[in-house]
Amino acid sequence: MFYSFELEKFLEDLLPPRDELLLEMERVALGETIPVVTPAVGNYLQLLVETSGARSILEIGSAIGYSTVYLARGARQTGGKVLTLDMNRGRLERAVKYLQRADLGDLVEFRAENALKYLPRVSKKYDLVFVDAAKGEYLQYLELLIPLLSPGGLLVVDNVLFRGWVVPGSVFDSKYDKMVGAMRNFLRRLAGMPGFRVSILPLGDGLAIARRGE
Ligand SMILES: C[S@@+](CC[C@H](N)C(=O)[O-])C[C@H]1O[C@@H](n2cnc3c(N)ncnc32)[C@H](O)[C@@H]1O
Repeated sequence: MFYSFELEKFLEDLLPPRDELLLEMERVALGETIPVVTPAVGNYLQLLVETSGARSILEIGSAIGYSTVYLARGARQTGGKVLTLDMNRGRLERAVKYLQRADLGDLVEFRAENALKYLPRVSKKYDLVFVDAAKGEYLQYLELLIPLLSPGGLLVVDNVLFRGWVVPGSVFDSKYDKMVGAMRNFLRRLAGMPGFRVSILPLGDGLAIARRGE
């Protein structure tokens, strides 16, 4: 494995302390096996919003709003706003409550929508887009999101190393063949996109950052 549990734990211990709300969300996500970003990825998302100065932020895949809290905390620094989508209405309703408890409700707009149906109707440009939804749909999101990125905008995508299985020669159950293949295709397309500078980091389950040229 490219990223050891010990290294992840060591890096997690160096993060700024999380407040009780984030810790509660982590416990809930773990208890209900809702996959959320690792604290290191959440921290990095907030840093990306703050350092890029992103003001219009779009998230695909809110779940219960754990990553949304980090994005919105970044947006509070930049004077920005977040639009977050999830096709699972029950999860999204829980996200609304958590963001209200975090006192960030006024910075976030929530939409219970399927991204594949919703994105073609969007005409607004976004400074930062965070993708963390159905892995098998990443290539489709990419094509729909490219026209929505502002010049200099960042596209940030989680789970791109898929437990390290994208690495040739990895051993995994054959039921994941299709998803691993889809993720490899996605990475090839992303890395080769003209007009973008791309960096892929072994943070959490793998994080890709693509910046559109000005
Ligand atoms: C990995 S979870 C998101 C976790 C969240 N970003 C976090 O770290 O706290 C993925 C979410 O994407 C949603 N999802 C999957 N496919 C989707 C689609 N096509 N459109 C909108 N949401 C989708 C699922 O309902 C699920 O809640």
